[in-house]
Amino acid sequence: SGYICFDQGYGNTGSCESQITYIDGDAGILRHRGYPIEQLAEQSEFVETAYLVIYGELPNAAQRRAFGDLLRTHAEVEEPLQRIFEGFPRTAPPMTILASVVAALAAHHPELAANNFEKDLAVFDTAAAMAISKTRTLGAMIYRHRKGLPFVPSKDTTFCENFLHMMFSQKEPGGPDYLAEPEVVKALNLLLLLHADHEQNCSTAAVRMVGSSSANLFASLSAGVSALSGPLHGGANTAVMEMLQQIHDAGDDGSRFIEQAKSGSKSTRLMGFGHAVYRNFDPRAKIIGAACEKVLAKLGINDPLLDIARHLEQAALRDDYFLSRKLYPNVDFYSGIIMRALGIPVSLFTVIFAMGRTTGWIANWYEVASQPKGRIYRPRQVYTGPVKRDYVPMAARP
Ligand code: CMC
Repeated sequence: SGYICFDQGYGNTGSCESQITYIDGDAGILRHRGYPIEQLAEQSEFVETAYLVIYGELPNAAQRRAFGDLLRTHAEVEEPLQRIFEGFPRTAPPMTILASVVAALAAHHPELAANNFEKDLAVFDTAAAMAISKTRTLGAMIYRHRKGLPFVPSKDTTFCENFLHMMFSQKEPGGPDYLAEPEVVKALNLLLLLHADHEQNCSTAAVRMVGSSSANLFASLSAGVSALSGPLHGGANTAVMEMLQQIHDAGDDGSRFIEQAKSGSKSTRLMGFGHAVYRNFDPRAKIIGAACEKVLAKLGINDPLLDIARHLEQAALRDDYFLSRKLYPNVDFYSGIIMRALGIPVSLFTVIFAMGRTTGWIANWYEVASQPKGRIYRPRQVYTGPVKRDYVPMAARP
């Protein structure tokens, strides 16, 4: 006591023990429950990886079926919660709506917000499936709300197909249903899988922090959504697309922008580059970069923003400024280009990130909530304010 270690932003502080995700930032390694992200991206799909991240093991066939059924059962967002949308202007930031409605789930499901999982694990299973499934549905509802279109009821199909159905069916009232091409479903699956978890990033640390006070799952997830909304975290995928569009509109191939990005100012950073932990390629960026080429080719899309992104990447990887600071592409650098190819508007990009990351938030929340003797997260600080001084009455103040 009395002795405080100062570690700005906890960059070197292990705040917890965790069995979920392993990262070696210098080597560019990412593993969930021991499984390399490359293998999961190649062989698994989002719902299976979500199960793995939350429960610690790959599911057998029966477990996978039961998890899928639970997700399907809880896909629909109840009518009273749908009405909350009426209180939001169409232009409301998507992450603001998401954070609000996710928190409101606790009001509508008090039985799941009671936190007595030690007695009843089925309560956790239901809460977890509900959070994953409804966050996905809310993503589609937010899209429809922004467009002024009625919500599309959930369909009895796979997780990603259902999302695309709830997004794009009936583009005008009474219009036809959307049938997603297999390539589109596959790409969405990959995107969600690659965002499933990433150890103690800002939003996951926020979820654990809130959960450590024994706050319920939905309150903790809502904090995660809010933390993710910032442009230096989940908002980066949106910022990348805005940057690429600006470069394109200015008739630049990226060369001028790269020069500005070297000023060190936060406002001109090369978005989608650099990472608080990776001092090497973000392994997810490699996977997404390769998938980007394939998806666009399969869908027959020629996006000039992909050419700019490739040029920026090549220029940065030759430039001493970026090399000496170990700044490499991160997961957000190419994810936006894929989402754009799938017809997802930029305004929804961070919501898609949240749909994937809800998985990791739940797993991390459970690690905290299931510790019978866990300690509340309560970091200390180094005080740099005024030393003791005496109160000055109003009349005597300058
Ligand atoms: N462009 C230009 N310079 C940069 C960049 C960049 N993207 N990132 C870092 N730098 C510079 C920074 O100015 C500093 O320079 P100097 O040593 O001269 O002061 C040096 O590199 C080290 O940067 P840092 O601020 O210590 O790095 P950090 O670990 O605090 O920040 C980061 C990590 C991700 C916030 C930062 O790299 C960044 O702002 N990147 C752009 C935003 C982005 O892509 N975020 C997504 C992160 S991955 C997904 C997620 O977490 O959601």
